[in-house]
Amino acid sequence: MTKILMVCLGNICRSPLAEGILKSKLSQEKFIIDSAGTANYHTGNAPDKRSIAVAKKYGIDISTLKGRQFNTLDFDAFDIIYVMDQSNYNNVVSLARNEDDKNKVKFILNATYPNQNHSLPDPYHGGDEGFENIYKLLDEACAKIANQLS
Ligand code: 4NP
Repeated sequence: MTKILMVCLGNICRSPLAEGILKSKLSQEKFIIDSAGTANYHTGNAPDKRSIAVAKKYGIDISTLKGRQFNTLDFDAFDIIYVMDQSNYNNVVSLARNEDDKNKVKFILNATYPNQNHSLPDPYHGGDEGFENIYKLLDEACAKIANQLS
């Protein structure tokens, strides 16, 4: 089993979408895919309705996911930790206990734009088009990740 964690700030907009998209591209028998937020504002909450809607438009159901906060034990539970932006990277790496933990943390857009450490924009305060944009960027990145891993 390869275990993959998607991390953003709130765990209601970007990372649940990344979780749903990557799950749709990989065998559930060989991969465990989860998501978490660096903040605890939305613990127990369903994804943002705009993320649910854009996923549904492309045939993916993320409506039953529940927000949770990233914690240090996630470094033991997961093999790869994909972050959405620079701030998520800094927050997650600040909890790393050693180099092995730190080496698990990768910018998700490096799958499509290697070594550039681009941030996936936070769509929370924007309109629906921001969600369409992040869907497309995540779909491209997850297609590359799925190809590399399977
Ligand atoms: P996410 O977006 O990190 O992609 O889930 C956000 C959701 C909520 C907030 C910030 C970002 N918030 O400040 O509540």
